[in-house]
Amino acid sequence: MKVLIINAPSHRGTTYRIARMTAEKITSGKNIDEIFLPRDFGEFCCGCGKCFMESEKKCPHYLKLKPVTEKIDSADVLIFACPTYVFHTAGQMKALLDHYAYRWLVHRPDERMFGKTAVIISTAAGTGTKPAIKDIADSCFFWGIQRVYKYGINVHAVSWKDVSDRKKRAISKKTSEIAQMVRSEKDRTPFSAKTRIFFNVMGMVQRKKGFSEADKIYWNEKGWTRGVKPWD
Ligand SMILES: Cc1cc2nc3c(=O)[nH]c(=O)nc-3n(C[C@H](O)[C@H](O)[C@H](O)COP(=O)(O)O)c2cc1C
Repeated sequence: MKVLIINAPSHRGTTYRIARMTAEKITSGKNIDEIFLPRDFGEFCCGCGKCFMESEKKCPHYLKLKPVTEKIDSADVLIFACPTYVFHTAGQMKALLDHYAYRWLVHRPDERMFGKTAVIISTAAGTGTKPAIKDIADSCFFWGIQRVYKYGINVHAVSWKDVSDRKKRAISKKTSEIAQMVRSEKDRTPFSAKTRIFFNVMGMVQRKKGFSEADKIYWNEKGWTRGVKPWD
């Protein structure tokens, strides 16, 4: 099983440590790759809309983003590690997610996403992990990822050395539980009704008009407008 940790921001703080712990428990320390934002990708979407209206290759950042995209595509498990900043996900993570608007179910989802697992980890000093995690979970759902585990924890600290031993024990327990679930549920989680319904509605939309010609052609080529499903 290949695990990719997507870290934002680029420093190795509390959230990174929890993500790394989780990854090592999932794979026993093997096959773990890491991306740091903005170190490995730090562009902001410029709002041209060419990715979803025409082609992702027309994004001005396409080539810079490509190595990150390739890592995402080849991983079985994506771990998003992001502290809570002003009650939301950090801007570095949001800037990356914005670049994949074209991959949302309403446009051109990549079928490899449907078989992946995501783990979203956010830490906060006191509060706010819920909306921070939702910022990332929305993209996971709209990318088509089925198995999404969420772990938000208020650590009452701004650095790992100040996190209490009690909290560290709770973190160790929770990361073991998540790793166990990721390993054992990999092939068992059924596709959710929400994804199925959403996908079927999108099939109807793309059959008629679609949101762009590029989306319509894509759905037709995949056979998704004729009943083929990306998870079959
Ligand atoms: C810019 C900034 C904004 C923050 N906003 C919040 C917040 O809204 N709520 C909160 O409880 N903690 C907030 N914090 C604290 C961090 O979320 C918290 O210390 C976190 O554990 C840091 O994780 P890290 O060590 O992985 O960077 C903020 C920290 C920074 C630097």
